[in-house]
Amino acid sequence: MKRHLLSIDDVTGEDIVRILDTAESFREVGTRVIKKVPALRGRTVVNLFYENSTRTRISFELAAKRLSADVINFTTSGTSVAKGESLKDTALTLQAMGADAVVIRHSSSGAPQALTRWIHGSVLNAGDGTHEHPTQALLDLYTIREKLGRFEGVRVAIVGDVLHSRVARSLSFALAKVGAEVTLVGPPTLIPPDAPRWGVNVSYDIDAVLPKLDVCYLLRVQRERQRQQYFPTVREYAQLFGLTRERVGLLPDDALIMHPGPMNRGVEIDSDVADLPRALMEEQVTNGIAVRMSLLYLLLGGGGEEASADA
Ligand code: CP
Repeated sequence: MKRHLLSIDDVTGEDIVRILDTAESFREVGTRVIKKVPALRGRTVVNLFYENSTRTRISFELAAKRLSADVINFTTSGTSVAKGESLKDTALTLQAMGADAVVIRHSSSGAPQALTRWIHGSVLNAGDGTHEHPTQALLDLYTIREKLGRFEGVRVAIVGDVLHSRVARSLSFALAKVGAEVTLVGPPTLIPPDAPRWGVNVSYDIDAVLPKLDVCYLLRVQRERQRQQYFPTVREYAQLFGLTRERVGLLPDDALIMHPGPMNRGVEIDSDVADLPRALMEEQVTNGIAVRMSLLYLLLGGGGEEASADA
């Protein structure tokens, strides 16, 4: 394993299997009365969140605490960032305090990469701009493997606002590495022009794709990142690309429904569809803790000599 996890490019197919297998052993820790192991006792993990988050921030905090690490949660409000302190000076301060790992979410693509210049420990990308969200992709892979028992030939559609989605990028790259077949689905305005180079198929017709799927993965419509009108109205988007009750009828009976959250109920997914037993959003969240425990453990050297200090 490399020292940092900045993108799915940083892990091989073998690394992915190792991360998921290690997560499997940590999954059981979450079912104990005392949900704690001493694996990272004495190590310090800093959660550096410049952008809003519920799932990822809490999940990383719980993961680090369950490994007995010391955890520092850092957000922009209430810190010197609010007084204008730069990312570099914040990083140098954390480095001076002995951070062993820094988990960063930032609205700028590339901020985690920049952080590696100033942090001697591991940097984990918790979502940077529209670039990547690798830990989300890995927890999604864990969830798919847990349910289907394989990746090879599994047919996944990633539906919606692909253009602004760091999740879609990381998940497409990760699924391609493990042999799954990915189709990106959405209006032409929300499919990136370079998508065919990702090793995926592209379709603008959700109804044609649904009957062939093992997994229907929905993306949040990211209105806050859209700087122009990509579709006429939210209502029209929901009609053309939302996973409605009627569209669920087009899916094979055993096809899974996933979403990284937060969801816009009634836009990309109907509210009652989000509550179906085959909709796995809560399981994705639970699995995220185990996968992030695995990543912290492996990146901080818990995996033994194979977890090298080479970036
Ligand atoms: N999936 C995800 O990244 O959710 P949060 O923004 O709540 O962390």
